[in-house]
Amino acid sequence: MEILDGKKAAQAIKDELKMEVAQLSVEGKKIPHLAAILVGTNGASETYVAAKVKACDEVGFKSTLVRFDADIPAVKLMEKIQELNNDPDVDGILVQLPLPKHIRESDVIDAIDPDKDVDGFHPVNIGKMLQGLPSFVPATPHGIMLLLEHFKVETKGKHAVVVGRSNIVGRPMSILLSSNSNPGNCTVTICHSHTQNLKELCLQADIIVAALGKPEFVTADMVKEGAVVVDVGITRLEDNTRKSGFKLKGDVQFDTVAPKCSWITPVPGGVGPMTIAALMKNTFVSCKMKN
Ligand code: GUN
Repeated sequence: MEILDGKKAAQAIKDELKMEVAQLSVEGKKIPHLAAILVGTNGASETYVAAKVKACDEVGFKSTLVRFDADIPAVKLMEKIQELNNDPDVDGILVQLPLPKHIRESDVIDAIDPDKDVDGFHPVNIGKMLQGLPSFVPATPHGIMLLLEHFKVETKGKHAVVVGRSNIVGRPMSILLSSNSNPGNCTVTICHSHTQNLKELCLQADIIVAALGKPEFVTADMVKEGAVVVDVGITRLEDNTRKSGFKLKGDVQFDTVAPKCSWITPVPGGVGPMTIAALMKNTFVSCKMKN
């Protein structure tokens, strides 16, 4: 069994970006600039946004963090997005999800200029991705593809089972794995809460992507010998023995599943760092496209 070390792969991507940003500087060109919007004080969202801002610092990007209280009127958020859309210095805009209930997420995503939508959530980018055209690809599935590429995991002709059908992970993941690309060219089954024979389908999988948000859902009896297992789950479970007050659990029962795998991602240190590296890559591409 080998570990798909997301920390290591993400570092390699960030090191490369850092050199490319330094080159832009030498040439007197504009440096990539990511603007992140955080609404409210959700603990996990705070952590993710802080990690994104830190990654910008590491690679030499400019970043702006815009914070709003949880009760901000939707119209104020929209105004800010318009301002960032119109700011020629800003290359990438991300609004951290989830948003408070009174704000419709689809309205917010639709308001972002597709050319600055480095999260790849805008319908224009989703549509282009579906057609195999150049687009911003959502950071988590994009990061997983980069991880498979980094460790040269063979995907062509394999049966991939994606567990979870979210717009952010499961659905785009299924499209990317089935694309005519490398990694890619998989036969994909997408499973969800109404799938009847989930265990049997998982047992047929050469590659499992677990993205349903249920801690330790995938157990050893669901995994074929030699499978590649990618764990997208990152649930916070209360743990008073830790300073943070919680521990992170993936969607895969790592200790029992790992011995059966050819490759497996750890949690933390697997998909998480790759999501951020993919966001950085998208922001860099956005900057290069415009300058
Ligand atoms: N919430 C969970 N994942 C993501 C992500 O990739 N981007 C944003 N903006 N919010 C998220």
